[in-house]
Amino acid sequence: ATQDAFVSCMLIYSRRFINISDYLHAPGSPSYIALLQSSQQNPRWVNSTGPKPQYIITPSGDIEIQSSILCSRKNSLEVRVLSGGHDYEGQSYRSKAPFIIINLITLRAVRVDIENETAWVQSGATLGELYYNIAKKSKVHGFPAGVCPSVGIGGHFSGGGFGNMVRKYGLAADNVIDAYVIDVYSRLLDRETMGEDLFWAIRGGGGSSFGVVVAWKIKLVRVPEMVTVFNIPKKLDQGASELVHRWQSVAEKLPEDLFIRVIMQNVGQVYNKTVEATFQSLYLGEVSELIPMMSEWFPELGLRSENCTEMTWIESALSFAGYPKGQSWDVLLTRTDQYKSNFKAKSDFVTKPIPIDGLKGIWKRMVEEELAFVILEPFGGRMSEISKSEIPFPHRKGNLYNIQYLVKWDVNTGKATKKHMYWVRKLYKYMKPYVSHSPRRAYQNYRDFDLGVNKHPNTSYNKAAHWGNKYFKSNFKRLAQVKSKADPFNFFRHEQSIPLISKPK
Ligand code: FDA
Repeated sequence: ATQDAFVSCMLIYSRRFINISDYLHAPGSPSYIALLQSSQQNPRWVNSTGPKPQYIITPSGDIEIQSSILCSRKNSLEVRVLSGGHDYEGQSYRSKAPFIIINLITLRAVRVDIENETAWVQSGATLGELYYNIAKKSKVHGFPAGVCPSVGIGGHFSGGGFGNMVRKYGLAADNVIDAYVIDVYSRLLDRETMGEDLFWAIRGGGGSSFGVVVAWKIKLVRVPEMVTVFNIPKKLDQGASELVHRWQSVAEKLPEDLFIRVIMQNVGQVYNKTVEATFQSLYLGEVSELIPMMSEWFPELGLRSENCTEMTWIESALSFAGYPKGQSWDVLLTRTDQYKSNFKAKSDFVTKPIPIDGLKGIWKRMVEEELAFVILEPFGGRMSEISKSEIPFPHRKGNLYNIQYLVKWDVNTGKATKKHMYWVRKLYKYMKPYVSHSPRRAYQNYRDFDLGVNKHPNTSYNKAAHWGNKYFKSNFKRLAQVKSKADPFNFFRHEQSIPLISKPK
């Protein structure tokens, strides 16, 4: 009955001249399963027996989003909003309560305005589509966001978003200057009409707590015509531990044009102890400037010009995404993660260098897993200049780097999942003495339900603060205040949605 009532409601409130089957996909329709499966970038839940969405809506404009919100409210259905489907805990396509998915795949236009150095990008576009469209218009503009092209704009900007220009230009969300949001009353609001509080909250306060963000206006940033990339792998017998130890004190202080991250991984078979650290860098300039800079700041790495490749900024985006030299830009338009597999990840922030023995303990644990990665992303530069309360993302000055612990596996069985989850949790436990504390902090875009979830649809602010303070520190309270005004019924709710500051209306 709810289903029929939902469809009838949609017929009343959506545009008459568009056939409802063009945007409303019901279980049993050929498009339903395809949409459900293709959008899950973490296939961990593909075979799950949990509730499936009653409908998937692929809106072709604002009206179908507005009517979906209205008709879900009328019929007590929850809403899941999906842009790129990369949520680490599947929050854009899973729910325990009866729900619909609003999948923004058809809303992915990118309009670049080089004269004013801005762009409007719809939430359903991917980072790859954004980078591609900027590069088509200009050789000297770019945008500071994540390194994986298939990540969706909607979720990424909602949680912050960092990549290899984070030290020069901050987060993706730091560079958002306007947005269109559809709120719980189905109103379409821009920055002026939503007000500065809500505009503050949607830039990093986490997806799907305040409404559906349809599009974002961003400030493009300047990049040189030629940038430089290097990847230097070091094994343990080549001094990997000592180099990572040194990197910790250097990476955050480097000139902000230079970004060097470290990817620690097991490159051999399980237990053969072939672990290595790759120093992966983007320098916003030419090799001739980079070599003397590295000799001054990080001579231990022994960088030589033959290790470096000059390329355009868009080629560097392809290189960071793992594509070989000469790859056509068109791959940036692929919406599926090229390394898609089941995964679980956790995160930390580091404020003091980890001693060498601490690092050695990471290696010891990594050899137990075949597809394990520990990724260290340096901050400093622009990140230290932006205040902790400028947007909800609070991890600024004082943080040397972010750590992501990631484990992947191919066989999707309950036993395999348990084993790999146990491994990453054990590593996380081991890291406790070396990372931020009181509270131990985490990055919202690396969503982790182990930190805590809203067990009840109207979980109190105090209970939710248990996980919320880890992502947002003191900004969590302001997020709850904004939520109480913007969505007083707590309609946009899920396991880690921002709670109301007091009971719902
Ligand atoms: P998805 O569609 O799953 O949305 C994520 C969350 O946001 C969900 O809660 C969803 O409901 C909500 N949401 C989505 N669209 C919304 C909208 N329009 N309005 C309101 N709420 C919305 N991060 C990073 O900072 N740097 C990086 O380099 C990477 N790289 C990376 C690679 C890979 C392979 C993965 C799987 C993830 C990353 N990430 C990342 C993390 C990524 O930023 C994070 O998972 C984003 O939330 C993904 O956004 P999507 O739109 O793809 O996800």
